[in-house]
Amino acid sequence: MPRGMRIGVAKEIKTDEYRIALTPAGARELVLKGHEVLIETTAGDGSSFPDADYVRAGAQIVSLDDVWSRSEMLLKVKEPIEPEYKRLREGLVLFTYLHIAADEPLTRALADSGIAAVAYETVETDDGRLPLLAPMSEVAGRIASQAGAYFLEKPLGGRGLLLGGVPGVSPGRVLILGGGIVGYNAAIIALGLGAQVTILERSIDRMRHLEEILSGRVSLVMSSTLQIESSISEADLVIGAVLIPGARAPKLVTREMLKEMKQGSVIVDVAIDQGGCVETAHPTTHSDPVYVVDGVTHYCVANMPGGVPITSTKALTNATLPYVEEIAEHGLARAVAADRALARGVNVLDGKIVYEAVAEAHGLEFTPLEEVTESAAHFQS
Ligand SMILES: NC(=O)c1ccc[n+]([C@@H]2O[C@H](COP(=O)([O-])OP(=O)(O)OC[C@H]3O[C@@H](n4cnc5c(N)ncnc54)[C@H](O)[C@@H]3O)[C@@H](O)[C@H]2O)c1
Repeated sequence: MPRGMRIGVAKEIKTDEYRIALTPAGARELVLKGHEVLIETTAGDGSSFPDADYVRAGAQIVSLDDVWSRSEMLLKVKEPIEPEYKRLREGLVLFTYLHIAADEPLTRALADSGIAAVAYETVETDDGRLPLLAPMSEVAGRIASQAGAYFLEKPLGGRGLLLGGVPGVSPGRVLILGGGIVGYNAAIIALGLGAQVTILERSIDRMRHLEEILSGRVSLVMSSTLQIESSISEADLVIGAVLIPGARAPKLVTREMLKEMKQGSVIVDVAIDQGGCVETAHPTTHSDPVYVVDGVTHYCVANMPGGVPITSTKALTNATLPYVEEIAEHGLARAVAADRALARGVNVLDGKIVYEAVAEAHGLEFTPLEEVTESAAHFQS
């Protein structure tokens, strides 16, 4: 029987990041399977998981230095930032959100260190689903309707309209651009608030699916520039939720269109992390989430799930734990050989860039994963 793995969980040091990569429940599961779990002291505080909860689950509380130097696999939520680069080392498996196609210094730091870097966001099933991104889209979609409803209130600069209306008063109108995971989740919260909801989508198959699961409670309309122009003038709240995989978001709402919108209406551009689908959108933060252009409130928080760390931490770790267990039980080599979705998550290994889009983004050499696996230190188990 193979021995257990030593799994560390580092505290997030990025501004406004309160999530942790493992819950006490997850720690307990790993301990029960014979692994050793090291939690950096106070790492769970931001998600309301004190050190004592992890100790009760069978984990050890350790220092910053120890969590990085003693772990065989290190779990994080966000990518390492500059002060952490010096801690990257050969022999360590790092499992976290990386987004390195947009971060050349980190790509080089990972490659130079010899670490095995596995990115949550590129774990991809054969049918193209992204199981470790989906939970954050669910959270962001649900926040979108909630935040939009809030900023429609008059003292907050909004039109002064209750999305759900009351008996005898019409509800507000919510227009959702893109009916994927974010769009669907935004729709069910908006419906729950009592709003009248329209989703503009480009994929007919997706619209058929939404028609089935929402049982006709929303209007589903083919997305086109003409349609957006006409729908936007009636909307009280517009939610931008489009995604074109691997590309920047298309600018579906132009500055010209804002002139047609009602004064005090609200745009929540969830796609802001891909550049935004609204021409006038720029990233904002939870501490300063909105600004106004042409009388329209813009909410463009780039890390919406970060505002609800208790929910986001649990949702994220529900999705990551099965993969953590696979790596811990079999070692990275056998785990990626057995699971092609997990194999797509490996971005950097033994100094080589093994994820093609990352190599292309920085003009670096791409090496297919299979070519590295035979010689890589991490794979000699
Ligand atoms: N701001 C945040 O904190 C945050 C959090 C999670 C996700 N996001 C972002 O939200 C966006 C949506 O993510 P998702 O998980 O729902 O993606 P998804 O792939 O599930 O859905 C995107 C949908 O957009 C549709 N689409 C593409 N072009 C369109 C067009 N021109 N008109 C109408 N629909 C169109 C697609 O058919 C698809 O159904 C992404 O940009 C994602 O990065 C942001």
